[in-house]
Parts: sequence; structure tokens; C-alpha cells
Amino acid sequence: MQFAQRLQPLQSNVFADMDTAKTKALAASKELIDLSLGSSDLAAQPHVIDAIAKSLNDPSTHGYLLFGATQAFRIAAATWYEQKFGISINPETEVLPLIGSQEGTAHLPLAILNPGDYALLLDPGYPSHAGGVYLASGLIYPMPLRAENEFLPVFTDIPIDVLNKARMMVLSYPHNPTAATAPLSFFFEAVAFCQQHNIVLVHDFPYVDLVFPNKCTDAINRVSTVAPSIFQADPEKSVSIEFFTLSKSYNMGGFRIGFAIGNPQLIRALRQVKAAVDFNQYRGILNGAVAALTGPQTGVETAVATFKRRRDAFISALNNIGWHVPTPQATMYVWAKLPPEWSQNSVEFCTKLVQETGVAASPGAGFGKSGEGYVRFALVREPLILEIAVQRIAEFLK
Ligand SMILES: Cc1ncc(COP(=O)(O)O)c(C=O)c1O
Repeated sequence: MQFAQRLQPLQSNVFADMDTAKTKALAASKELIDLSLGSSDLAAQPHVIDAIAKSLNDPSTHGYLLFGATQAFRIAAATWYEQKFGISINPETEVLPLIGSQEGTAHLPLAILNPGDYALLLDPGYPSHAGGVYLASGLIYPMPLRAENEFLPVFTDIPIDVLNKARMMVLSYPHNPTAATAPLSFFFEAVAFCQQHNIVLVHDFPYVDLVFPNKCTDAINRVSTVAPSIFQADPEKSVSIEFFTLSKSYNMGGFRIGFAIGNPQLIRALRQVKAAVDFNQYRGILNGAVAALTGPQTGVETAVATFKRRRDAFISALNNIGWHVPTPQATMYVWAKLPPEWSQNSVEFCTKLVQETGVAASPGAGFGKSGEGYVRFALVREPLILEIAVQRIAEFLK
């Protein structure tokens, strides 16, 4: 059988290799502590589940759902955003429901890139950003993220011949996998750069709420409990589109629900691509999402407090075994620089670690070339289990 060339770059996937290593570890009766996936172990809120359960028993929710019928969800999303950031959003033209934000970010390049056009992506970055560009037959210019630049890209390093063919840039802060945050001043710089070079600015924003208070400050040094949004730097929505998910703040990863907010032309273009592909998420799940966005937000506060507690326990346990890692100010991840003997082989480190100890982590190289030398731990277990994981890591490192 012959397959399209665009499938080629999608064939090797270190996460699939890690999955095999995990299965082998299980088969060898290792007790698995899986910190390799950013899939929250916390439960969705009861009022959300109730809304979905009620919908299941209502046959009027069982059919196809066209855009017009998603209005209640779009209004909830627009209102939720306006209450957080004080920027007004038109739910008819500036909001698009998604079957998870990954679906949206992966489909968007089909609406923007012609074959041979460049997308400027963070390296390391979330794998589906690259996947979507490959599916659209685009080219990728990886913008390296280095610790000395606080894991922010340096726009002036992008070569002019790439810039001339660049049609989109994808940012994502708070950042997976490095857990870095970006100040609003950085977003102002990004918006000005994209306006100057006629580039669509995409901001993937799943960790909007997973910011640990006290430490995170905005551009004018105010303590902030949410991370900055791209529209605070582009209130006219001149070049930008931002992607949100209910997977992280509301522990609804398995329900597959997210949304895009942005420039009406970009929203329309993405909607056109999606119209060829899907019929929107099930109405019952949209009803659950409306309950999540408009109902009590105590679940979000609990999730933030939980990840902060886990972060503190994990970082302090790592410190105790002599592995010194900066304390992340956001997200559910710890991005740890590997000891020198492993600095060129994060995949081997993770494979051996899971096989010998049952602790699964994600190799930095899986997120891009500049991720080599690091490993990502997702804080998706309770502190006690995280401490056991660190004890096993200590044994392994010996
Ligand atoms: C940067 C980033 N984008 C998108 C996603 C996926 O979100 P969703 O569940 O809405 O597809 C994740 C999940 O870990 C992520 O880290």
C-alpha cells in the first residue's frame, strides 16, 4: 500500500515508544508510577457531571449539532473570557467550539499554510503543533527555547528567508513542557512582530488557570492568578487566535471539549476546515462545559492548590536526592535538566527508568530537538506517590 508523504514525519513518535516501554515494565510486574502524561487524575465537578447525565437522558441531545445550536456554549465561553480579561468577545463571530484544543491547533494550519509555507514553532513544544503543520504540508522553523532566555524564543534570530515565507507563529505560555511563563511584555513584542511580518499569531493557552499565586506577576509586576492572554496585547484581535480547553482547569480531558477565540476571519477559516471534518462535540458535553464555565469555580481553585502542593513535594524530594530543579510557577509539569551522563539521551534515560523502576516520565527530546537533555514529569499523582517515585529515581541514579 502506498501512503502520503506527509505521513512520514508522523511515523516516529517517542511517546509511542515510551508506551511500549511502560507496557513492558507492567509485564515485568513493575508497579507503574506514570508521570509521563499531562492527563489530570482529578475528577470533573459534580455539577458538570449532572449536566451531562441529564443530557444523556434527553433524546433531543442525541442528533447532529450544527454551529447555530452551539450558541449557549459560545456565549458561556465569551462571558468566561470577558470576566477573566475584561476584553469583549462576540460569541457569533469570535468563538469556535472545538473537540479539544488539540483538534483546533492541529487543524488550523490547513486553513493558513500553503505547501512550503513556514510555521514558527516553539522547540521544545507540544507535539500536535508540529503534527498539524506536517498534515498541511507546511515547513517548520523551530524557535529554540533556552534556559538562559527563560524559555522564551528570540524573534530576531529567525532568518529573513524563513520570515519571508512564514505565515504563522505558535506560542503557548504557561508552557508545556518547560513550565515557563511569559510576561505580558513578551506578548506585546510577539504581536508587534507578527503584525510587522504579516504572520498569524496562535496562542495555545491550556494552562490559563494553572498558575501558582504569590509568584506569577504580570507586565507591571502585579501578582496575577491567571496567566496573560494574547488579546491583552492585541485587543483589536488584529492577527491573533487563542485556544482554550476544559481539560486542565476543569479536569475534563476525556470529554474532549475546548474552544478558540480570535480574529473573526481566522475563526471563520478554521470553521470552514472543521465543517469538512466534524459535526461539533456532543451537545451533552457542551452542556457540561457550560456548567463548568458558568458555575462555581471552586474546582479550579482546588486543582491549582493540588498541583501547587504536589509541585512543592516533588521539587523538595528531588532537592533531597541532590537533583536541583527550578520551582515552576505554573502548569502541572516539572522540567528537569538531566545529570550530565544522560544529557544527550533523554529517551534512553526514560526507557531505562521505567523498565527498572516503573517510574514513567517523558523524554525532553520527544518535544523537539532543543528538549534534549531534559525530562518532563507530570504531577498527576498525590505527594506521597511522587515521593516514592523520587526514591526510586534516586536508586536508579546510583
Ligand atoms: C500545550 C497543549 N495544548 C493542547 C493540549 C491538549 O488539550 P486538549 O485536551 O484540549 O486537546 C495540551 C495537553 O496537554 C497541551 O499541553
